[in-house]
Amino acid sequence: MRFTLRRCASVSKMLDFYSQFNPSPLSIKQFIDFGLSASEEKSFMFLRKELPVRLANIMKEIHLLPDNLLRMPSVGLVNEWYAMSFDEILEFEKADSNSTDTLDKFCKALVKIRNRHSDVVQTMAQGVMELKDSHDVDHQTENSIQYFLDRFYMSRISIRMLINQHTLLFGDELTRGDSSLRHIGCIDPQCDLIGVVKDAYENARFLCEQYYLSSPELKVTEHNEYEKGEPVRIIYVPSHLYHMLFELFKNSMRATVEHHTDTDVLPPIEVSVVRGKEDICVKMSDKGGGIPRSVTDMLFHYMYSTAPQPSKSDAHTVPLAGYGYGLPISRLYARYFHGDIMLLSCDGLGTDAIIYLKALSNEANELLPIFNKTSSKFYRATIPTGDWSSTQSACMEHRHPTISQSKTSSKHVPVSKSL
Ligand SMILES: Nc1ncnc2c1ncn2[C@@H]1O[C@H](COP(=O)(O)OP(=O)(O)OP(=O)(O)O)[C@@H](O)[C@H]1O
Ligand SMILES: [Mg+2]
Repeated sequence: MRFTLRRCASVSKMLDFYSQFNPSPLSIKQFIDFGLSASEEKSFMFLRKELPVRLANIMKEIHLLPDNLLRMPSVGLVNEWYAMSFDEILEFEKADSNSTDTLDKFCKALVKIRNRHSDVVQTMAQGVMELKDSHDVDHQTENSIQYFLDRFYMSRISIRMLINQHTLLFGDELTRGDSSLRHIGCIDPQCDLIGVVKDAYENARFLCEQYYLSSPELKVTEHNEYEKGEPVRIIYVPSHLYHMLFELFKNSMRATVEHHTDTDVLPPIEVSVVRGKEDICVKMSDKGGGIPRSVTDMLFHYMYSTAPQPSKSDAHTVPLAGYGYGLPISRLYARYFHGDIMLLSCDGLGTDAIIYLKALSNEANELLPIFNKTSSKFYRATIPTGDWSSTQSACMEHRHPTISQSKTSSKHVPVSKSL
């Protein structure tokens, strides 16, 4: 369905209206309380305002992207998807919230929107590649894109979280399996961390075996400083946790196998799961040779990868590495509920990656991008001139090609769809 000019004009007016509101971040505790007690009608009333607010806030930022990026066909497509979804939700602005018919239609509209947006990550990544293949991208543009992608993908994680909660709680999507019986929407109030670690390890190991015909073992330890002797459990979204762990395992496995080419005995990957008073930490340590300090600033840049680009002819197989999306997107998942991911490395030895999560569900608040003067200014900011004799970025520029130069073009960007 193409947009008529008149509809575009009215969408643009509504965008101005809804983008004036700040999104309302919810904590995991609020998601749970809401899931246990709220009616479908109440959820509908909340979402029909909150979803347009979140969409409008990020759509306003899309419009601030550099013109040459906005002109890329894939970015145009993403823009169109957002405009359609925004428009579809606005149709419920004045709908009767008491009517079952309205509630059913709303649920169906959410499912349709979620499906429409399932390829947004790859399509936006494709748009950035189209730009880099056709233009010289300066530092200023590079910075704006990094800033934007973090906010854009974070907004998407949050919108999907809201949609998933509503459709799982009130739609006809049945949750399967024993553990999902206790789930509240997509949140597991008793998430067994070690179980998710083992699951992610097994799946990453399967890929690693496919590529290298060998894989490192796993050693897991658990420390529950808060409830001694008890397994570490967390109230969390297991799929988010799985995503982060799977990405970290793939990276550690690749580094370990590639660093130990002259021996059959690979050092294991060691994972510690620790429950403290305030934080839950998952530390993954590998002996994969580490990362030089000069590139640590690049690790969380979209498209920074030292792996060869996965071949297009193998589009149906899942690659172990190569898109440079693993770390930045995993960190967004951690930060979404006010956690974080950090990497500490000893060049020549190995890397520790730590996932920090909030142990208390009332402190695990959504972190959401807000469109305002500060964020708008960022897209026009000029890069300050260095006032130190040799800044890190100046050295890096000299030593490493920019991301755009280091990548070859790709027409297919199958980065993770699970967002
Ligand atoms: N544990 C590690 N040891 C050594 N290098 C690492 C480790 N983790 C990450 N890296 C480096 O950081 C780069 C970026 O990692 P990232 O996961 O974001 O992308 P990728 O693995 O190359 O591709 P993908 O998007 O498929 O994950 C890797 O290419 C690798 O050079
Ligand atoms: Mg990776």
